[in-house]
Amino acid sequence: MDYSSKVITIEKALELVKSNDQIVTGLGAAEGKEFLKHLHQVAERVSNVTVTNCLPMSDFPFMKEEYKASFFIDGWFYSPALRKAHKNGNISFIPNHLHLAGAKRLFHVKPNIYVGSASKVDKHGFVSLSTSNTYEKRMIEAADIVIIEVNPNFPVTYGDLELHLDQIDYILEVDYPVPVLPDAPSNEKDILIGKQIAAFVQDGDCIQFGIGGIPNAVANALVDKKDLGVHTEMLTSGLMKLAKLGVVNGSKKTLHRGKMVCTFALGTDELYDFIDQNPSVLILDGNYVNDPAIIGQNDNQISINTTLEIDLTGQCCSESIGSVQFSGTGGQADTAIGAQKAKNGKSFIALYSTAMVKNSETGEREEISKIVPQLKPGAAVSLSRNDVDYVVTEYGVAALRGTNIRERVERLIQIAHPKFREELYQQAKEIGIVG
Ligand code: COA
Repeated sequence: MDYSSKVITIEKALELVKSNDQIVTGLGAAEGKEFLKHLHQVAERVSNVTVTNCLPMSDFPFMKEEYKASFFIDGWFYSPALRKAHKNGNISFIPNHLHLAGAKRLFHVKPNIYVGSASKVDKHGFVSLSTSNTYEKRMIEAADIVIIEVNPNFPVTYGDLELHLDQIDYILEVDYPVPVLPDAPSNEKDILIGKQIAAFVQDGDCIQFGIGGIPNAVANALVDKKDLGVHTEMLTSGLMKLAKLGVVNGSKKTLHRGKMVCTFALGTDELYDFIDQNPSVLILDGNYVNDPAIIGQNDNQISINTTLEIDLTGQCCSESIGSVQFSGTGGQADTAIGAQKAKNGKSFIALYSTAMVKNSETGEREEISKIVPQLKPGAAVSLSRNDVDYVVTEYGVAALRGTNIRERVERLIQIAHPKFREELYQQAKEIGIVG
C-alpha cells in the first residue's frame, strides 16, 4: 500500500479503539498528541482501555476523572500532567530502569495499538521517529496496529529510528509544533554546584546529563573544557549548547567516536533544530544506550543526575515525595552504574542542600534539609546506596565510593546546610548509624 492509502482522519483512527485495548504511545515529544487529544471522544463506547505513556507533555482530556470508567493510565515516568491526574485513581506507575522499560513491559502485556509522532516521509518511504527511540520501535514491532502522526515540523534524525511505510498501518497528517521543555534559568546554587563538578571533568571526558534543573545548569560550568563526548539517555539543550560552542566534539570517545549518542531529545526549539538532519547525533534504542555494560565502554564516562532526597547512608529518592510519585527512576541508576563501570568513570548526584516545601498543617513554605537521616516513609529508592558515588551540594562534594556508613554520615553532613548539621548528627546517633 502506498502513502496516500494509509492516511486516515482522526475519526477513523478513533474507530480503531476497542474496549480492553492496550495503547502505547511515545516518550515526551514522541507521543501521539493529535490522537490522545481526541481519545476521550470514544469514552462512551469503550471501557477499560489502558494507555501506557512516559513523560507525557500534555494534559489530555482522557486523563480527567469523568472518563475514569473508560481509560486507565500506566506511566513509566510521571510529568506534571500525570502528577495532576494521579489523584483521579485511574493511573498507576510502572517501576522500571529505563533501558529495560520496553522489554519488561512486553513480558507482561502485548500492545494492541501504538500511536506516536514522526517526521515527514522521505523519498525512500521512511519516516524518522524523530525525538525518541527509548522503547518506541520495540513497541511498534509488537503492536497489532501502528498509527503514526506524520508532522513536517518534527526533525529528521539519524540512528535507529527509521520506520518504513510498510511498518505503518495508518497515518494521521498533523502540523502541531514539537512540544518543548523550556530551560530553567541558573541561580547561585547551580553555579556553585556546576563549578565543583566541572573541577572533576577533564578534557576528553564523555558526559551524560539527567533531567531536571541542576544537570542542565552544569553545562554552563563546562564551557572552558575541550573535546568532550556525549553518551546520554536524554539529549538536553545544555548538551546542545556545548556542542554548538565546539566544547563537545566526540573526538576522544572510545565508543561511537564523533557522535553524540542518546535515546531521546527533549528541550527547546533550538535543540530540535540542532538535531534535524545532523549526522553527529545518533538516537539509538534505549535498551542499548542505557545498558550499564554499554555505557561502561566509554572511557572517562561522567554521569550527572539529581535527586529529591538522600539519606545519610547514600540512598537516593529521586522520583517520589514520600509515597507520592513525582517522576520516575528513568535512567538514573542505569547511567550512574554505567559510569562507574567505565575506565576512569565517575557518577555525580547533584542536589541543593535544602528545599522549600509546604507545611501540611500551616500551609506555609518552610526550608527542610534534602539530606536526611532516613527517607520519608514510602519514598522510592531510585539509586541504591550500593551504587551512589559522588554527591554534590552547594556546600561541597562527598566522595562515597567504597566508604562505610560512618564515613558516609560524616561526609554527607559536611555538605548539608550548616543549620541542619548538628541535628542530623544527633539523629544519626539516635538511629544507631554512628556511635
Ligand atoms: N521533600 C519534599 N519536596 C521536595 C524535596 C524534598 N526533599 N526536594 C524537592 N522537593 C520539591 C521541590 O520543592 C519542588 O516543588 P515545587 O515544584 O512545588 O517547587 C519539586 O519537589 C521538584 O524539585 P526540583 O528540585 O525543582 O526538581 P527538578 O525539576 O530539578 O527534578 C528530579 C529533579 C530529581 C525530580 C528529576 O531529576 C528526576 O526525576 N530524576 C530521576 C530521573 C533521572 O535522574 N533520570 C536520569 C536520566 S534522564
